[in-house]
Amino acid sequence: MAEKRVFTLSQVAQHKSKKDCWFVINGRVLNVTKFLEEHPGGEEVLIESAGKDATKDFEVIGHSKAAQNMLLKYQVGVLQGFKIPEGDSMDVAYKESKDEGMTAFVVEDDGVPKHSAFIDFFVPLLVAGFFFGYRYLSTVAQITN
Ligand code: HEM
Repeated sequence: MAEKRVFTLSQVAQHKSKKDCWFVINGRVLNVTKFLEEHPGGEEVLIESAGKDATKDFEVIGHSKAAQNMLLKYQVGVLQGFKIPEGDSMDVAYKESKDEGMTAFVVEDDGVPKHSAFIDFFVPLLVAGFFFGYRYLSTVAQITN
């Protein structure tokens, strides 16, 4: 399968002419020779990126989703060190990691005692209770006087 072919950046760099134009976007090696004339942004910009990793150039433009989908049409392989998720699709190729898996992480205790939430909630409630109780009692006292 073409998508599974692995190229190094120096192999990609050998295809940098108008008649044979390749570059890399998000780990995907693309042969855009046939696309040069069709590119809405013009062929010059593509030729300038030829033989290189054009990921940043591609992203800076803010290409549409449609443009991103078009990438697959021109893919001839992947850049060494990248992996395309199984089933392909539009998922971005990801860089192969040497890590076996996700390492555990610890959420540190912030040192605040657990009962502080109780105090935070009930103290203002208690103060408000006293305030309204006092107001009520003084109003009742005024009426009865
Ligand atoms: C296979 C790769 C590429 C495809 C399929 C592609 C496709 C497109 C499409 C469909 C558009 C029209 C606007 C949009 O839908 O976003 C566009 C515009 C453009 N592209 Fe690309 N493009 C590719 C690579 C690149 C690269 C590598 C560069 C820069 C070095 C570039 C620069 C531009 C520019 C400058 C425009 C014009 C933006 C504008 O007028 O606002 N494209 N491209």
